[in-house]
Amino acid sequence: MDVGARAHTHSGSKPSAPTAKPKAVPMDALILQGGRPLSGRVHVSGAKNAALPVMAATLLAPGQHVLRNVPSLADTRTMARVIERLGAKVEFTDHQCLIDTTNITSLEAPYDLVSTMRASIYVLGPMVARFGSARVSLPGGCAWGPRPVNLHLEGLDAMGASLEIDHGYIVAKNARLRGASIRHEVVSVGATAQIMMAATLAEGTTVIDGAALEPDITALGEVLLQCGARIEGLGTRTVTVHGVKSLKPIDTTIIPDRIEAATFMAAAAITGGSITLEQCAPDHLRATTERLTEAGCLIESERDQLTISGPVRPAAVTVTTQPYPGFPTDMQAQMMALCSIADGESVITDTIYLDRFTHVPELARLGADIRLDHNVARIRGVKSLQGAPVMATDIRASAALVLAALVAEGETRISRIYHLDRGYEAMDQKLNALGASVRRVKE
Ligand code: EPZ
Repeated sequence: MDVGARAHTHSGSKPSAPTAKPKAVPMDALILQGGRPLSGRVHVSGAKNAALPVMAATLLAPGQHVLRNVPSLADTRTMARVIERLGAKVEFTDHQCLIDTTNITSLEAPYDLVSTMRASIYVLGPMVARFGSARVSLPGGCAWGPRPVNLHLEGLDAMGASLEIDHGYIVAKNARLRGASIRHEVVSVGATAQIMMAATLAEGTTVIDGAALEPDITALGEVLLQCGARIEGLGTRTVTVHGVKSLKPIDTTIIPDRIEAATFMAAAAITGGSITLEQCAPDHLRATTERLTEAGCLIESERDQLTISGPVRPAAVTVTTQPYPGFPTDMQAQMMALCSIADGESVITDTIYLDRFTHVPELARLGADIRLDHNVARIRGVKSLQGAPVMATDIRASAALVLAALVAEGETRISRIYHLDRGYEAMDQKLNALGASVRRVKE
């Protein structure tokens, strides 16, 4: 069965009655008083997009795994619950995650969890590789439109998974994975991770041509090597995995979150402040550093620290998102907030997600002047923004609204802040420690 095509149009398949209603999310809001330049030091948390695949990868090797520097986020807690539903024991305390995958008792990752976080699909490859079988809910769309998983499924299918779509679930039965040559015309972080994990226990060799280079992928590869996997070409567009019989548990530390770090850099830039990021990876921030330097920031870095001082008024810039090491799409919205008060007209093009612009009407509510033409936004910088009630729609859109609110005159109220909590650890407390005025209130 052509699973890829079915996965592409998954919204067409008649889903089975969801087993349980997705858990109600706490509806907090943030109230910000704008106009205070940020200053001080901020600790960068572990990376969400590195922690999620590593947590799923623990399913490949029976035993007790130790993950350190795991960010305490709604999303990492969701992944912990998905793994627990499969039977693993998870202890998540103070950024350390102990995961015991000795006794996996279920093969199903249910709709009620997967529908709240797309990355839950990362358990599919490891489950099929270790047990030959799995039943994982298809992830739905997201705030800004369909996000297909055809490359994940086509890759696993090429390795002999013979997946079926059954009432909204991806089902694999008694598959014995074997190596395959897989070529991606589109660079996909998720599909690269999925196939790399599955290939570690496949019979023979798998080659991924067009692999993603994101630091989260290289870090996952290094963790798999630590488990005893055989992988070559990490950090290149061609990754080769030689399957092995079994893997051993890991003790690893999650890399710093480059998107959180870049977001705080933009916060210094937009407020004209000066902050030092601690425990970050400046190498992973090159594209952002280049654009913010063009906008007039002074940036210095050494080892795991980076100091940024923002200009009195940022200069207009041109930004085009690209797969790593290009400019990250996960910083597109935050850069748009910065450009909304820049001196001149900026142009931002998103080549990864052509419709990732749900933040535009909300920034316009704060007084930004943005014209959208398909995936190209032209932003005419205004002298000042005005506080107003706005609504968060996804993780990075909410970060952009926070940045704009830091400089908007008066009070801004951002509702549905659970989106922010999915990807940023204690952002309100970190901002207040840098001199901002942010209050969290119950809606
Ligand atoms: C990862 O998503 C990140 N999520 C996203 O960050 C990030 O925006 C994205 O990579 C791009 O950098 C996590 O790591 C958990 P992709 P992923 O597969 O893996 C198309 C955040 O805010 N595609 O690299 O889902 C896809 O539509 C999140 O932290 C297919 O066509 O992204 C997109 O245009 C949001 N078929 C492009 O590839 C597929 O099967 C890149 O997507 C898979 C992807």
